[in-house]
Order: sequence, then C-alpha cells, then structure tokens
Amino acid sequence: MNSFGRIFRISIFGESHGPCVGINIDGCPAGLPLSVGDFTTDIERRKPGAKGTTPRKEDDIPGIMNGVFNDKTTGAPITILFDNNNTRSTDYEKQRAVPRPGHADFVAAKKFGGFEDYRGGGHFSGRLTVCLVAAGVIAKKMLGNIKVESTILEIGGEADIEKGLQKAIDAKDTIGGIVECRVSGLPIGLGEPFFDSVESALSHAVFSIPAVRGIEFGTGFEAAKMFGSQHNDWIQHADGTTKTNHSGGVAGGISNGNELVFRIAIKPTSSTPKEQQTLNVETGEVEAFSVKGRHDLCIALRVPVVLEAVTAFVLADLMMLEQRIGRIY
Ligand SMILES: Cc1cc2nc3c(=O)[nH]c(=O)nc-3n(C[C@H](O)[C@H](O)[C@H](O)COP(=O)(O)O)c2cc1C
Repeated sequence: MNSFGRIFRISIFGESHGPCVGINIDGCPAGLPLSVGDFTTDIERRKPGAKGTTPRKEDDIPGIMNGVFNDKTTGAPITILFDNNNTRSTDYEKQRAVPRPGHADFVAAKKFGGFEDYRGGGHFSGRLTVCLVAAGVIAKKMLGNIKVESTILEIGGEADIEKGLQKAIDAKDTIGGIVECRVSGLPIGLGEPFFDSVESALSHAVFSIPAVRGIEFGTGFEAAKMFGSQHNDWIQHADGTTKTNHSGGVAGGISNGNELVFRIAIKPTSSTPKEQQTLNVETGEVEAFSVKGRHDLCIALRVPVVLEAVTAFVLADLMMLEQRIGRIY
C-alpha cells in the first residue's frame, strides 16, 4: 500500500493539488534532536528553480504536527505536513478526457474507477517525494557517521549536464538521466540472504520514486560481459574491504563492508510539449495531443536528494533490524 519499512516505518499521503501532502514516521527512537531547521538543506535541494525544472514553486516548510516535543523526538509517530499552495488545477480539468501517454492518468482512472484525484497527477505525483525527503532527513540523523551521497552522472547520455539539457531544450522535448548513490561507513551484515537482501529492500523503495526505470548495483549489467576473475572482488582485509568493488558493496544480499554503490535510470518526463497521440476516452478516437501546463523538463535534476532520502530510510530500517540503532539516550 502506501507504507514501507518494518521498524522504521513510513506512510505517505496526499495529492499534488489537495490541501497538503504528508508523511507519518513510526519507529524513530526517542530523544533524537529534531526541529524545522534540520529539514531546510535537503528540502531546498529538491525544490525546482534551476534550468530544466518546473515553474511550480512551493514554500515546503515542514509542519511537524506530532512526535516531537521540545525539539526532540518523543518515540511516538511523527507526522509532517507540507501545504500545497501553488496549484493550477484547470490545466488538468481540460485534459481529463485525454490521458497523458507515459503518465499514470489512464491506469489510475481504470484502477480507481474514475474516483481518483487526477489534478496534477494526484497521489502519483512527484510532489509526494518532498515527504520522502523529510523521512530521509530523520533517517540520515539516525545513521550518524554512515554517509549517503547522490550525484547526477549523465543527462540524455551526456556527462556534461548542460549539454544534455540543451539537447532537450533545442528539441522542445523532455529528457532523462542517470543518478548514482554511494554510501560509506556501512557495517558488514545488513540484509538477509533471500527476499530481504540489501538490493531487494533498496530496489523496492527506489521504485516508489516516480519515473525510475532501472537500478544496477556495482558494475551492474556490465557484469554480464566480464570473466569471473575480472568481476570477483579480492578480499584484502579483515574488515571485508576488497581490491575492487564490482559487487557495489553487497554479497549474498548482505552488506560486505565496502562502499555501497548503485545507479538508477530516470526516464524523460512523460509530460512533454511535443506532439504525440493518445486515446480520447470520451470520443473513443485516437487524437493528436501535447501537454500544456507546468512540468519538469528533466526529472533527474531533482532526484539526487530524493534518492539519498530513500536510501537512508531503507538503511535505517535495516540497521534497526540488526539492532545497530536502538535507544539513543
Ligand atoms: C521530483 C519529481 C518530479 C516530477 N515532475 C514531473 C512533472 O513535472 N511532470 C510529469 O509528467 N511527471 C513528473 N514526475 C514523474 C511522474 O510523477 C511519473 O512519471 C508518473 O507518476 C508515472 O509514474 P512512472 O513514471 O513511475 O511510471 C516527477 C517525478 C519526480 C520524482
């Protein structure tokens, strides 16, 4: 459903053009220092404003409703709300009969019988990722010296981000990208051999970020072209560190003491001004179509901080399951 995690457990709620979006976080230990200012850096990193991002801007001041008292977590569930103020729903009302190709409009109407809030992508919207970022702020604090960092590796196949973006601007279209995440300081032993491997838990959560199309750990798909002797990471020290890190820090589903390294592919924004075709569900005819309204030209530009957040809350949960984070007072 809309919840994830076993001990550090989050539930997100809200729609893009409803009154607010929000998150409930259960399982955070009591006594963790937490105030509104702690969220500023990461929330600002997710905000649009840069070239290639949507003109829709929200203040995104986190409303901490419960679970924090005197700037410390209480051990009770933490509820955080973000108001939606800058909405323009008429863009979507006009579009109701013509579901956007590549977006969730068509499947949402089928699955929820037309009762879904379709404005701005409703509950499917990238807007809800502000809630994931909030959970990430708390999870990063819980992780202490474990550092989670994400960067954009390429846009539209170009390592030069400006060049990649310009390709889309010139084509009056949208474009995708690749974002990498690296985590240092992880202990050996997180994860389980089968269904709850580190890769499984991360992939499960990472695919909840809208527009993610793929994930690879370490050398990923390139591993299929290598010899075993090339791909094997030679163990060099008792702390598990290896000469190479082709496996990306996970062996047998378990963290192995090396840097965790993985990359995700973000698709080009489905809402493109370029002319396409779609079914008009009222007339039953396929017709020419192009998206109006305010959209990110390149979603990947906004993803690094979201990916860090998702990674941090997955790892916080795995750490708690291993009893490596417990009482902090
Ligand atoms: C930060 C962020 C911003 C996004 N902005 C837009 C946008 O402006 N326009 C759009 O069509 N999709 C945007 N998306 C992606 C859609 O939400 C997503 O493509 C859609 O819900 C369908 O899901 P899927 O792509 O995972 O299949 C954004 C995603 C994220 C993570």
